Amino acid sequence: MPPCTLIESKSAAMSAPLTSLLIFSFFFSLGSPLSSNYYHKTCPNAESIIKKAVTDATRKDKTAPAGLLRMHFHDCLIRGCDGSILLHSKGKNTAEKDGLPNVSLHAFYVIDEAKKAVESVCPGVVSCADILALAARDAIVLAGGPSWDVPKGRKDGRISRASDTTKLPSPTFNIAQLQQSFSLRGLSLEDVAALLGAHTLGFSHCSSFNNRIYNFNSTFDIDPSLRRSFASSLRRVCPIKNNAKNAGVTMDPYSSTTFDNTYYQLILQHKALFSTDNALLSSPMTKSLVYKFARSKDAFFKAFVKSLIKLSSINGGQEIRKDCRVVN
Ligand code: HEM
Ligand SMILES: *[C@@H]1O[C@H](CO)[C@@H](O)[C@H](O)[C@H]1NC(C)=O
Ligand SMILES: *[C@@H]1O[C@H](CO)[C@@H](O)[C@H](O)[C@H]1NC(C)=O
Repeated sequence: MPPCTLIESKSAAMSAPLTSLLIFSFFFSLGSPLSSNYYHKTCPNAESIIKKAVTDATRKDKTAPAGLLRMHFHDCLIRGCDGSILLHSKGKNTAEKDGLPNVSLHAFYVIDEAKKAVESVCPGVVSCADILALAARDAIVLAGGPSWDVPKGRKDGRISRASDTTKLPSPTFNIAQLQQSFSLRGLSLEDVAALLGAHTLGFSHCSSFNNRIYNFNSTFDIDPSLRRSFASSLRRVCPIKNNAKNAGVTMDPYSSTTFDNTYYQLILQHKALFSTDNALLSSPMTKSLVYKFARSKDAFFKAFVKSLIKLSSINGGQEIRKDCRVVN
């Protein structure tokens, strides 16, 4: 056998698993890859129109960026980033947005405004899922966070079920449950550590952290990993009886409308709200990331952008919705 045949047959043998890997990842991502210049020819002004809608809303309501970012996160975790979070309940079907963990989902109107404006210049071209992904990026920039090129080309889905929201991670999860929940979506614990920095923005209701300040476990009434004075202040806001329906606190009390790295500093001060936040200290790898991100805003921004692009590229939909609230 001439030597070259040997090399050929060897490379053929090696390319078989490679080919099946490529086929596998193609089906796994269920669609064509996203790209930065997706609307370059078909709707060149889409990004500036969406940015204007987010800017107008944020001028009137400083909490709009938190709403948009959380909405995008919830969208991507259920059926991929397919705008399923935007659909209204219809007939017998209760949609995601009416599911249990919908407390504090808000700012839907920003997406509707953006969609209306985009449809008026390029009808039927830009998906609601892409509008939401772009709006989340714009929101972060307006709040003082990093900017990046958003890959585009998502399609909108036709299914939205309240029952799917049980697949969202709970704020009481430990590190193993966090890892499990995110690995199902192709995200690592490093991604989780970086993405949770999003909690530098926004508000939380008492119900999301009551587990830490009352009946924590059979030994402790209050989670001993919470700073005592902080736990006392949370109890004042969230009394065990006569808890006001909308009572709660901003997750970053110093700068809840600014996207910065204080979230990690709060974890180290034992003043982070959720069990999931504190859970980042329970594995050596995530703990070292908490220290790194607390020290360096740049390091956090870099890691956050990388992981958010990963999260925001989970594929799902089939169509370009005309109205973000109803399927075509
Ligand atoms: C383990 C994962 C996560 C858990 C368990 C979690 C849980 C929560 C909870 C319980 C709230 C407060 C809801 C309320 O009581 O009103 C919240 C708010 C928020 N979450 Fe997360 N979250 C997670 C990951 C993320 C990620 C990855 C992002 C974005 C990239 C994000 C963005 C936000 C934002 C911006 C808010 C504030 C919303 C507002 O004030 O309007 N979260 N999250
Ligand atoms: C959350 O769900 C309830 C019904 O389960 C609904 O009345 C409410 O409007 C929903 N909130 C949002 C922001 O969609
Ligand atoms: C209660 O929580 C503390 C702190 O997390 C832990 O060390 C202890 O083992 C827990 N006790 C029980 C009975 O679960």
